[in-house]
Amino acid sequence: MKIDTLFPTRLYRGSLIGARRLKPELMKTWLAIAREDIAGQRWCDEHGYLGYTSYASLDDLPSRANVFAELVRHLDTHARAFAQALEWDLQAKTLVLDSLWINVMAQGSVHTGHIHPHSAISGTYYVAVPHGASAIRFEDPRLAMMMAAPARRPAVRRENLSFVTIEPMPGAILMWESWLRHEVPANRARGHRVSLSFNYTVR
Ligand SMILES: [Fe+2]
Repeated sequence: MKIDTLFPTRLYRGSLIGARRLKPELMKTWLAIAREDIAGQRWCDEHGYLGYTSYASLDDLPSRANVFAELVRHLDTHARAFAQALEWDLQAKTLVLDSLWINVMAQGSVHTGHIHPHSAISGTYYVAVPHGASAIRFEDPRLAMMMAAPARRPAVRRENLSFVTIEPMPGAILMWESWLRHEVPANRARGHRVSLSFNYTVR
């Protein structure tokens, strides 16, 4: 008997070289940006976001601080490696960072299930993950088609799970194809869970 695996869902896991060196600068910079970003603060208030995100207010982080520009250079390398592993034929086009934003999740903050439309690769770089902070949870993209599929055994292998939870370490980079639905359950940690999320598109 032989069972093949078809149509895999890839999750890229990398770590940033120099993460410890960059962390103090990133922490200082997000705080300074958050203090000045009145539109972002208002968006968080209006949308019940406990903490701060620049998602809806700032689209120029790499030009605001050198530390973000340096981060993007690293992310570009990781994104290209991921595209290589996915065997994408980009021909004359290339992967371009389309957006980068700060997520600071305070205690109780939650990010419900979503995908990242209009993008090819999405991901997150983890700056600070206090003890007990939320993991990220990915959902089997075929879930909506499993009308009569039996439940899986409790001790199921990871590739057969319908939901996979990853507890990121500070300095970790996660990337996935942008159609992959994911969520961040409520943050139980007292400290701030700080990350930078991004989208790459093909141009
Ligand atoms: Fe997301």
